[in-house]
Amino acid sequence: MLRADIASVLRLQAQCYLPDNIESEAVIRARLASAPDTAWIAETDGKACAYLVGYRSRLGQVGVLGDDFEPADTPDCLYLHDLAVGAQARGLGLGPRLVAHALSQARREKLAWAALVSVQDSQPFWRQQGFAARQLDDPGQELALSNYAGAPACYMTQELLTMTG
Ligand SMILES: CC(C)(COP(=O)(O)OP(=O)(O)OC[C@H]1O[C@@H](n2cnc3c(N)ncnc32)[C@H](O)[C@@H]1OP(=O)(O)O)[C@@H](O)C(=O)NCCC(=O)NCCS
Repeated sequence: MLRADIASVLRLQAQCYLPDNIESEAVIRARLASAPDTAWIAETDGKACAYLVGYRSRLGQVGVLGDDFEPADTPDCLYLHDLAVGAQARGLGLGPRLVAHALSQARREKLAWAALVSVQDSQPFWRQQGFAARQLDDPGQELALSNYAGAPACYMTQELLTMTG
């Protein structure tokens, strides 16, 4: 994703999210500046039709709706904050391909985990991508889930590296 893609990101976000889950252009710009190499766009016919943005985080940390990303100094987790596939491009497998691309980058970086907050009844989709719901131990992190509108938001994780020896 480049700064020139922000207009497309805003268009796709508006197609994909409930009004209360929409985030501002300013915060989207700031996030791209703070985590440019974990932000991806998918195109069809040269036009952006899907995006995925995340940042390097710590297991158990929930991304707060509408807040800047806070990349961790010593990350152990790729946090996927926002995946959106435009209405015209649904069902083509772009969502799973973007997720697979991000997870392979995380594995190359030896991040042990990937995590996200599932919203808008997307848990079955994320289970298909290898994620499972995970209880948050910290009540403060649990509270961050309540900012998301719609069906209850759910913290989900996937272990990326299997430790041996
Ligand atoms: C969820 C989303 C990213 C899926 O992207 P996509 O590229 O259209 O995914 P696909 O249609 O290729 O789906 C892959 C599989 O997941 C399933 N799936 C897709 N969305 C689903 C959903 N909301 N609930 C349950 N299953 C879903 C598909 O049926 C498909 O299953 P199959 O391979 O057995 O046929 C897309 O629908 C979207 O942008 N939704 C709105 C925003 C959103 O909810 N993002 C996730 C927030 S955490």
